[in-house]
Amino acid sequence: MKNENNKVLVAYYSATGTTEKVAKEVASATSGRLFEIEPEKEYTSADLNWNDRNSRSSVEMNDMSSRPAIKNGILNLDSIETVFIGYPIWWDQAPRVVNTFIDSNDLKGKRIITFCTSGGSTIDGSTRALCETYPKLDITQGKCLNGTPESGIEAWIKSLGF
Ligand SMILES: Cc1cc2nc3c(=O)[nH]c(=O)nc-3n(C[C@H](O)[C@H](O)[C@H](O)COP(=O)(O)O)c2cc1C
Repeated sequence: MKNENNKVLVAYYSATGTTEKVAKEVASATSGRLFEIEPEKEYTSADLNWNDRNSRSSVEMNDMSSRPAIKNGILNLDSIETVFIGYPIWWDQAPRVVNTFIDSNDLKGKRIITFCTSGGSTIDGSTRALCETYPKLDITQGKCLNGTPESGIEAWIKSLGF
């Protein structure tokens, strides 16, 4: 195990564990610090039901300004230069708790790189929306890591200059 790289943070949200698995691999490939974005109120399976227009996730994703509360979201990022942000795609977007995390921290001047998992959607729409919401932040579109083997994640991280 390499020493932790105190210049890299890998922040992720994962409702059902898929993104968590790849986030751990991104953290391992960068030797970065892993941080789980945890909603104050966990999402139940009823909350995640995308067939229900009134489920919590549907209601939040229909509201651009929704910012569900998160636990321990304010971090000391003084030494951090690069922040990877990972999330599952919800309705072609990053879940709103990701916005809560971004709003809670001063990420100006840091290199932000997205990654995601999904049922098939690309990462494009979600990163575009984050860039539009946060025009002052330096956000680079990363990768959708569905089914990407650890060696593929390592190769991607290497291609970014780590
Ligand atoms: C509310 C909700 C909305 C979703 N919307 C999409 C979508 O628009 N496109 C897609 O490909 N997958 C969609 N998915 C599937 C998730 O992105 C996918 O299962 C993801 O890998 C879950 O990651 P997790 O286990 O880290 O939560 C959605 C899942 C949920 C719960």
